Amino acid sequence: MHPSAALAWQRLQARAEAEQDRPIAELFAEHHDRFEDFSAQFGEVFLDYSKNAMSPAARAELLDLLEARDFRRRRVALLSGEAVNGSENRPALHTALRDARRAPETVAADVQAELERLGEFVEAVRSGTLTGTSGKPYTDVVNIGIGGSLLGPQLATRALARHAQAGLACHFVSDPDGCKLRDLLPRLDPETTLFILASKTFTTAETLANARIARSWLAEVLGEGAREHFVGVSARPERMDALGIAPDRQFRLWDWVGGRYSLWSAIGLSLALSLGMEGFRAFLAGAAAMDAHFETAEPAANLPVLLALSHVWHASFLGARSLVNLPYQQRLKFLPAYLQQLEMESLGKRCDAAGRPLLHASCPMVFGQVGNNAQHSFMQLLHQGTERFLVDFIAVASDPDAPERLGLANCLAQSRALMLGTGDAHEAEPHRRCPGNRPSNTLLLTTLTPASLGQLLALYEHKVFVQGLLWDVNAYDQWGVELGKRIADELHGRLREGVGGEDLDASTAGLLKRLRQA
Ligand code: F6P
Repeated sequence: MHPSAALAWQRLQARAEAEQDRPIAELFAEHHDRFEDFSAQFGEVFLDYSKNAMSPAARAELLDLLEARDFRRRRVALLSGEAVNGSENRPALHTALRDARRAPETVAADVQAELERLGEFVEAVRSGTLTGTSGKPYTDVVNIGIGGSLLGPQLATRALARHAQAGLACHFVSDPDGCKLRDLLPRLDPETTLFILASKTFTTAETLANARIARSWLAEVLGEGAREHFVGVSARPERMDALGIAPDRQFRLWDWVGGRYSLWSAIGLSLALSLGMEGFRAFLAGAAAMDAHFETAEPAANLPVLLALSHVWHASFLGARSLVNLPYQQRLKFLPAYLQQLEMESLGKRCDAAGRPLLHASCPMVFGQVGNNAQHSFMQLLHQGTERFLVDFIAVASDPDAPERLGLANCLAQSRALMLGTGDAHEAEPHRRCPGNRPSNTLLLTTLTPASLGQLLALYEHKVFVQGLLWDVNAYDQWGVELGKRIADELHGRLREGVGGEDLDASTAGLLKRLRQA
């Protein structure tokens, strides 16, 4: 049955029609404990969803919808390793990577062994026991990867820079033409640089192109010794062999880890090198604690569930077309990009798990920016534009790097301004009026540490799972990205060889011609 055919869904539709224009401020006026009632805490994460356009009755009906969608059984299915990724007939066991004790027997030993190997490697590099070919300790690590093989490690390495151990600088490159790498190389010493080729499939064109540039740069100085400056991380050891990565420098992940869920595997090697193993294990433990909360907490107190209900309510019932992520902490500047992949690659689907067209609105557009910067660019539209949207504000309560707390003041000011608008002021000056009644969530981390970041990211992962089940969408495949890759392969050949194009659409043919002449 389509989710929208369920009685619980239809009740929510009727409620949305009746309540959609109710001022959020009125919900506060009616319910004095609204802040306490519409907020929840687990570990280092506090969620305030009281500024949602959601009445207590709507929340109760959303919880009914969750039960109608068989949430409890499907949560067990996810965590116990059933094949929740139907189109690829695979489990989605990223939770096993954060605590091998939770992993099904079939994978636990592999996970544990690979984490031990990773730990030995990290310690050896950090202590200088493992060096480059000329015996000098590594000083720079360059992660070559894209998508899930970039966004998680890049976000976490930047976010946790305060917790990094000294001595190793991490860099991230992903663009297909090697621009960033070519800019970076003059600042690096081949004798002390370690490249991580991070790619689950080891076939990704951008990653292989950068790997070739890195190899020829190393080989010019180190010759055969270049091999010692490469590490591979992949689910395809045979492809790492084929590329000449030494077996003791190969780290594995498995098909049951989705790319955008792979930060917890050896794909997180750059983060582990930056933090050291103790910090990396604390990051995994933070995520594992959120997993346990998700597994055991009742839905009404379960952070991933509550955030999912908020997102589904605004997107599917109240017509929000965007979800805007605004971290108010510069160190979280890569969080919006990470969440874009997590949300849109997981949930940006047009058919349900059985292949039937969806009959309801599902994943909105997701975008964001460090909040303070957004205030001086696109937030004008949030205050006075005509679109419906939902905002997630993300802030760090106690931040030794921000003693003035100006960012926090801005964060609170924005969510309040969006909710209340200008009120009765400026009635004669419509261009100055802000209508208000624009909903938001605020996620407050106690402090920004490996453990709290692990909790936050695991929260969002499980939130996506809950949305997938409410919308009946497979959150673990991404077939839509394949078409463009295939066409690019074909067009790259035509660009290089300078032939063909007559069979293409007129626009692509015309552009191809101009590019050949350029
Ligand atoms: O093209 C999308 C994608 O497949 C993502 O799902 C993935 O994270 C990214 O490409 C990189 O893939 P890989 O790790 O195999 O290089």
